[in-house]
This record gives sequence, C-alpha cells and structure tokens, in this order.
Amino acid sequence: MKTKVSEYLPNKIKKLKKDKNAVILAHYYQIPEIQDLADFVGDSLGLSQNVLKTSADIIVFAGVHFMAETAKILNPGKKVLIPDLNAGCSLADSCPPDKFRNFKKKYPDHVVISYINCSAQIKTMSDVICTSSNAVKIVDSFPENQKIIFAPDKNLGGYINAITGRNMVLWDGSCEVHDVIKSEAVINLKAKNPDAMVIAHPECKAVILQLADFIGSTTALLNFTLKSKAKKFIVATETGILHQMKKVSPEKEFLIVPSDETCSCNDCPYMKMNTLEKLYLCLNNEQPELKLSKSVIDKAKKPILRMLELSQ
Ligand code: 13P
Ligand code: SF4
Repeated sequence: MKTKVSEYLPNKIKKLKKDKNAVILAHYYQIPEIQDLADFVGDSLGLSQNVLKTSADIIVFAGVHFMAETAKILNPGKKVLIPDLNAGCSLADSCPPDKFRNFKKKYPDHVVISYINCSAQIKTMSDVICTSSNAVKIVDSFPENQKIIFAPDKNLGGYINAITGRNMVLWDGSCEVHDVIKSEAVINLKAKNPDAMVIAHPECKAVILQLADFIGSTTALLNFTLKSKAKKFIVATETGILHQMKKVSPEKEFLIVPSDETCSCNDCPYMKMNTLEKLYLCLNNEQPELKLSKSVIDKAKKPILRMLELSQ
C-alpha cells in the first residue's frame, strides 16, 4: 500500500528517531506537524527539565538557537541537533555579550538574573537563569535588599518588578513578536467578544498585561484555558500555542490577538524556520549540530542548574 504524502515524512522521521535512539523536543511555537511528532512539547522550563531526563543518544531540538544551546549545556555528552541553525531569537539578539559586559560593570554590587532567552555567552555572565514560569520564584529567592540586574527582556523584568515590588535594573531588550502586540487590537477583540477572557505572555508590553485576566508562560496559559470555565479566550502570544489549546479543549474558541491585521506578525519568524523537511534532513544527516566550547558550557551550566534547583 502506498504511503500518503502527508504521512511520508512523519513516518520517515519516526523510523529515524527509533533507529538512532533520538528524542525530539519541541517548543509550543513550532508548527503543528512538528509538535505532533515530538516526544515532548513544552515551555522553556519544561524543555530544560526534560533535557536532563532523557536517555536518548541524540536530542533534536525543534525550537530556537538559545534553546538548543541550553540543551547542549545541560547534556554536553549528547549530540544536540537543531533543524535550522539560523533559527535565532530577536530577544536573545537584543543583548550582545560585549555591550552587556560593559553594562554589568556599571553595577558591581548587583547580581544578574537572566531570562533563558539569551545567548550562552550571556548565561556565562549570569548568577541565575529564569524562565517566564519561574521568574517570580527566582527573584524572590534573593533577599529584598539584594540589588539585581534583570536581562534581557524589559517587559518581563518590568512585570516582575511590578508584582514583587523590586526595582531591578532592566536591560533594554524585547521580543519582536510580543512587543508589537497592540492594546487597540486587544480592546477591539474584547469589545466584539465581551465573554472572552484575555490571556497574555509576560513578554508583552505592560499595556497589554494590564488588559489581561491571566498572565503566564506558554504552559501556564495552556493550563489556564484547560481548567477555566470560560469558553472563549483572547490570546496575546505567538500563534503556535493555539494548536495545543485547541487539542486539549476542542469545544473552546481561541482568538489570537492580531499584532497587525495586515501581517502574520504573531508568527515568530525564527521558530517557524523549522519545517518537517528540515527536521527529516537533520535527523537523517545528523546535522546541523549545536556545538559549544567546554569553557562556555562549564560557566553557563552553573546559573542554569541553580535555576533548576530553585524550581523544584
Ligand atoms: P515560554 O514557553 O517559556 O513561556 O517562553 C516563550 C518564548 O518566548 C520562547 O521563545
Ligand atoms: Fe525569541 Fe520572541 Fe521568537 Fe520567543 S517568540 S523565540 S522570544 S523572537
């Protein structure tokens, strides 16, 4: 019997995965076809925790560069593959290591808490890493009088400052996908759908977060839609998360906030660089492979492990 075209690549990928003892880890912002093939789909914290648990020989990271770097840092003995080595992140890129090193020098008595969406180099200059799901816990693990630099996301940092009452020094970085979501678009959708709950990722600007009924990481947003009695949600984050939301709650309605009605700005251009074809080629050819020097791995590992310990 002939294999249908839609099954051809997924079947090939599944076979390669088994033959090579590989595992596919995917972020929620990946295209639905990749999410459905993955062994684990999650937010940045869940993905990091899974990296440590896997007994696979090869980790295929269907996400962006800093995520694959984190996987390599946590598991240097394993081969870490990424379908497209150019899948970067505007937020990570908004914090160049040289500029950050100079910035840090201005605040010698501050500790550095870095959001996981940063390069391995920035992680080597950090005391502890956080994700959007554990940022409050990580910040609160420091005494109230501890001076803190928070990098690179000013939106997440501002949100954490507001809810913890801290005055962390913020690096002026942001995510090009979340930062352009407009409050007018949220208000318009809410006016047309007054029964909908507004949920937002903390990488959005404060004006968006002020309009939200719930704020959280991608996993937290997903769990909220699952548990909530509401039937309709206005979702302010990247489009990929809608796939899991619809899967776990097929009877509910999800309206993505258009950042601009004339474009698909809520599609992260980096996350969406990964395709089924690239995933197949990457597993088949075992490249592109993510490589990092031992010194970077050793230095960057400490703040990530500290985060994982504090997250337990
Ligand atoms: P989380 O999935 O950890 O919420 O992060 C979102 C994100 O921007 C990943 O790039
Ligand atoms: Fe980076 Fe934003 Fe894309 Fe996440 S959504 S990978 S923060 S550019």
